[in-house]
Amino acid sequence: MQQLAIKLKKKGRTVGFVPTMGALHTGHISLLKKCRRENDIVILSIFVNPKQFEPQEDLAAYPRRASQDILLAKKENVDIIFHPSVNQMYPSRYLSYIEVEKISDILCGKFRPTHFRGVATVVGKLLNIVQPDTLYLGQKDAQQCAVLQQMIRDLNFPVKVKILPTVREKDGLAMSSRNQYLTAQARVEATVLYKSLLHARDRILEGEQNPLRIVNGIRTMIMENSSGKIDYVDCINAETLESLNNIHGKVLIALAVWFGKARLIDNIVLTVKRRLPTLNKA
Ligand code: PAF
Repeated sequence: MQQLAIKLKKKGRTVGFVPTMGALHTGHISLLKKCRRENDIVILSIFVNPKQFEPQEDLAAYPRRASQDILLAKKENVDIIFHPSVNQMYPSRYLSYIEVEKISDILCGKFRPTHFRGVATVVGKLLNIVQPDTLYLGQKDAQQCAVLQQMIRDLNFPVKVKILPTVREKDGLAMSSRNQYLTAQARVEATVLYKSLLHARDRILEGEQNPLRIVNGIRTMIMENSSGKIDYVDCINAETLESLNNIHGKVLIALAVWFGKARLIDNIVLTVKRRLPTLNKA
């Protein structure tokens, strides 16, 4: 793959890259379509990365559907599918990891302490192998996007990043490979996630400035309308992922909630312009 990538670059072809763990859904397809429109060569990787699963998480149960994914990729005119084995990516005596400090430890990182180290490591390796001009990521994984953008900046990976909007089902549920674990009842209840985010957005647009009240409002709405078990709800600065005393600027409202075996994440980003308080002249 790396030799092929070097050849393509020498020929002056632009390369777009969509990394995935397979089980492709409409969200992935929207990344592939955009990548197809913008590049000479589209590369898709399918690799269920063991390093981003916590020991208690069920790596073996993660959906693997390579043959179906390959058909979908062909339909989207993907040029190259990179589908390495675990042993090719992590041969014996594998010892090197990428850690993005601080922003890997909050939100999902609190509950999945080694997850972003695994994500950063595999994406760092994939970027070195595939050598793309542009990397395409989905906004649904907001923290993953922030961690990878930080890694790319800090470690000088020569790649542009494009983050595309979350693709949703008609009733608002964010598309995810994990939705297939939902029971029929949980599938209905899970629609409360996006509804609660939209309700929070409306309250902010109506003037609510207190992040804690927004977080509590979302928590209450989820608890009153579903059996979901909340890992976290947070309302923070969308660029730095730092907490806010007061809602202003580019704000990320993010949540993670369990429905049975499925841990669903979702988020929205909004820009809140408030007039800064002016100093009164004496
Ligand atoms: O978002 C995913 O599917 C994965 O975290 C990624 C970026 C492909 C790395 O394994």
